[in-house]
Amino acid sequence: MPFHKLLERQLKKYFGSSPPGGLEFAAFLVAVDAAYAANDEARALLERSMELASTELLERNVRLEFELEAVKRLELELRQAEKLRAVGQLAAGVAHEINTPIQYVGDSVHFMRDGIQDLARLGQHARSAAAGQDLGPEAVELLRATIDDIDLEYLLDELPKAASHASEGLRRVAAIVSAMKDFGRADSREKVMADINRCVENTLLVAHNELKFVAEVELDLGELPPIPCYPGELSQVLLSLLVNAAQAIGARRASTHGRGLIQIKTERREARVMIFVTDDGCGIALEHQTRIFEPFFTTKAVGSGSGQGLAISRSIVVEKHGGAISFSSTPGEGTTFCVSLPVDDPRRRPSSTRAERLAAE
Ligand SMILES: Nc1ncnc2c1ncn2[C@@H]1O[C@H](COP(=O)(O)OP(=O)(O)OP(=O)(O)O)[C@@H](O)[C@H]1O
Ligand SMILES: [Mg+2]
Repeated sequence: MPFHKLLERQLKKYFGSSPPGGLEFAAFLVAVDAAYAANDEARALLERSMELASTELLERNVRLEFELEAVKRLELELRQAEKLRAVGQLAAGVAHEINTPIQYVGDSVHFMRDGIQDLARLGQHARSAAAGQDLGPEAVELLRATIDDIDLEYLLDELPKAASHASEGLRRVAAIVSAMKDFGRADSREKVMADINRCVENTLLVAHNELKFVAEVELDLGELPPIPCYPGELSQVLLSLLVNAAQAIGARRASTHGRGLIQIKTERREARVMIFVTDDGCGIALEHQTRIFEPFFTTKAVGSGSGQGLAISRSIVVEKHGGAISFSSTPGEGTTFCVSLPVDDPRRRPSSTRAERLAAE
């Protein structure tokens, strides 16, 4: 029986066509031949298992890519759901906000309608008196009695006030509706130039009901240039910060029921627009400070917080706007969140170098 190929080759190389005889040498050759065969088997086994491993790796890669896609889709859905939840939560408050001005618009319009009827009565008497050209004592007396009856002085005083009350109420309703529209509008894919102060004011209008029992709001709006942004998404960020601030104040003052203070300040700092939201709430415990931007991290009771507000806010500010969001907090005393946004969109300036973009960020 021929030996293993390699062994045959070695024998030929060293001994030519006449290898040494002898039993011992023959036994040695058999042992070497067996070792070659064992080596071949081991190598075949190794190759097979490497092949299996790489197929499995490939499959796993495909599965991972698929799962990643699913996670991305889920994240998008969660984000939409969170926005809807925020809008839904506010809808009740907004209905209440609109209800108050609507009520005084209604009262004023009723008063104006009655007043106009009274004035019409006086007008009719005056017209018939004038038509008969009879301004004798009887007609004068009728006019005087009607003037007393309808309390003309009072009407002349109050009617213009009622009209301006009504138009003030309508103005407020219109402002709330327009803020709600801005807020709920799905942002287009392209950024638009928008005024951050208007975003702040709109968000405050929408959130007023949520805040008014908890905190006084102080506004200090600096002069800002319009910046390229997604205004609806930035309103969502502001709303998250405001609701968090109100909840922190509620947590600190749970026993006293006193109102806290929320300060909102905007200013331009060179190539950035800065927004600061400060509250005098419970502050953030040191051990939580590294975690608050994690998705689903919350210290709130089940049902009152899902832990998504800041995670979503960060992704809107950082990923969508190339901005930054940070905070400083003293446990027990309060917290300031700071959002900074570039005045110029570094990604849209073709001439900007990577170094310039990094400097801008
Ligand atoms: N202004 C703040 N003062 C104190 N703690 C805060 C403040 N803002 C955020 N936190 C802490 O950060 C955590 C995460 O905030 P985040 O807004 O992401 O979630 P949430 O408010 O708990 O829930 P969600 O916003 O989804 O309703 C909060 O649970 C809270 O512990
Ligand atoms: Mg929150």
